[in-house]
Amino acid sequence: MRILLLCHAFNSLSQRVHAELRAAGHEVSVELDISDEVTAEAVEVFEPDVVVAPFLKRKIPEAVFAAVPCLIVHPGPPGDRGPAALDWAVLDEAAEWGVSIIRATEELDGGPVLASRMFPMRPARKSSLYRIEVTEAAVAALFEALGKIERGEPGDPPPPGRWRDPVPATVRGINWTRDDTATVMRKIRSADGFPGVVDDIAGREVRLFNAWPDPELAGEPGALLARCHGAICRATIDGAVWIGHLKEGGERPFKRRATTVLGEALADLPELNLNSDPETGRGPIRYREIGAVGILEFDFYNGAMSTADCQALLAAYRQATERPTRVIVLAGGSDFWSNGMDLNTIEAAASPPDESWDNIRAIDEVAEAIIRTTSHLTVSAIGGNAAAGGVFLALAADEIWARSGVVLNPHYKNMGNLYGSEYWTYLLPKRVGEDGIKAVMGHRLPMLAAEAKELGLIDRVGPGDRAAFDQFALAQAAQLAEDDFEARLTAKAERRAQDEAERPLHAYRDAELERMRMNFYGFDPSYHVARFRLVRRSPHAWTPLYLAHHRARVGSK
Ligand code: COA
Repeated sequence: MRILLLCHAFNSLSQRVHAELRAAGHEVSVELDISDEVTAEAVEVFEPDVVVAPFLKRKIPEAVFAAVPCLIVHPGPPGDRGPAALDWAVLDEAAEWGVSIIRATEELDGGPVLASRMFPMRPARKSSLYRIEVTEAAVAALFEALGKIERGEPGDPPPPGRWRDPVPATVRGINWTRDDTATVMRKIRSADGFPGVVDDIAGREVRLFNAWPDPELAGEPGALLARCHGAICRATIDGAVWIGHLKEGGERPFKRRATTVLGEALADLPELNLNSDPETGRGPIRYREIGAVGILEFDFYNGAMSTADCQALLAAYRQATERPTRVIVLAGGSDFWSNGMDLNTIEAAASPPDESWDNIRAIDEVAEAIIRTTSHLTVSAIGGNAAAGGVFLALAADEIWARSGVVLNPHYKNMGNLYGSEYWTYLLPKRVGEDGIKAVMGHRLPMLAAEAKELGLIDRVGPGDRAAFDQFALAQAAQLAEDDFEARLTAKAERRAQDEAERPLHAYRDAELERMRMNFYGFDPSYHVARFRLVRRSPHAWTPLYLAHHRARVGSK
């Protein structure tokens, strides 16, 4: 089929749908929802069989849905309607939730339902449920719905349900002298990553993101108790929660580390180091062992790794290499394996070029430590999405396994044509050959795990279910610790020594960083502009041509 994706932004779900539809052989083009006129023009030019809207914030114009079948992906079960479906599901502690594929009609979310899927809910951020459960359900339901469109089936009238408006601030506001930890967590999770719960901290109106409960700390309800690594800890009536990121008003605000926003107001707070003991699992870096396998998780918010995050990860990695295990599994975080440098922290820095420079070198240190490891076999187990430097960091390991549902963006071009580092000039040719480099780096499109395997970028594709993938990775890692372990380790050390003799690792890094220095400090501001726009989630003014293939047809019509 010829399918036009119409989206508010090319977000993770839109990327997954795009990659799945292409893999299934459909002709796919994308138009971002900029105005009704632009949408109508895209339909006229592309002449799609169907319009699919994976992530849309406005109604599709009548002229469009009257002319072409339009399918809306709604993150709620049949009958549910409204713009804050998942927010309400988290707030209401729904035991299960769903995704419906609704045909667009005059009534918002009120058209015939072509397909749906249900899933059990888990206590997690709204954005995490969206990236994992909603995404898996949406893809399955969408293919069923497209089958019906092809066969000319109309779908079912929606069951009786209800319309729900956006969540009012009063429903989600935290009462620190009355709410327990579970309630505070539920409220923050229901609004994370957008729009965030509005709160008052030290007399400042802020929005809260990236919260996790602390199992030990407690104090007077509402009091600030400690700080750690950019996060602050605040007491509830029965414990305490950490809050990692805040957004404060003003012009074009963006999420920043809580301590960066509050600054002086926190002067007297004690500084803890939750990452100093990864085995206690209190911070984003966690370590555990099962038999001969050490599992290192690094669950950084949005997969963004700041200079300090990289330093903490490097310390935890070095600790892991000193253990009498055989295999280290680098498990990343629940939603993202890694998205590379922390662009928000860079944007918030006094000197973004200096912070970019520090950040890239700190990631390189982690990559180098993994590459130089000769005591263990290493595995990158990519259960969550990865992009840019995050993908190339994963290549530093000996084996790369990915969940079948992950979306990889193995290129830097979308971030203002960054050249990239993380030893990609050493790691990538080894995997895909010189010819494969262009196929990986040259296009700006997201890629599914299966495509990455075909290109040789990764070694294995595991189950799509998140928990099943973790089990798969663990079982395969245990196997790796058995099968010819000593021989493999020896061969690895020999290969590394040979590579080093041919061209030392530092030569790759120096050459990459020379190019990065130009990106950060040179005359071309593209990277700084792209970063400014990404962290502020700036609306698009047009659809880039690498997505809007139909625009290339304009001249030929
Ligand atoms: N630093 C800080 N935040 C990042 C990030 C990074 N490197 N990469 C992604 N994010 C944030 C996004 O801003 C978004 O924030 P939000 O919670 O305020 O909405 C969230 O993570 C991801 O949202 P999602 O909807 O899953 O993805 P997306 O639509 O933003 O697209 C990416 C996914 C990863 C392709 C895109 O975010 C991207 O290109 N990120 C930059 C990668 C990069 O260039 N890294 C630096 C070079 S090493």
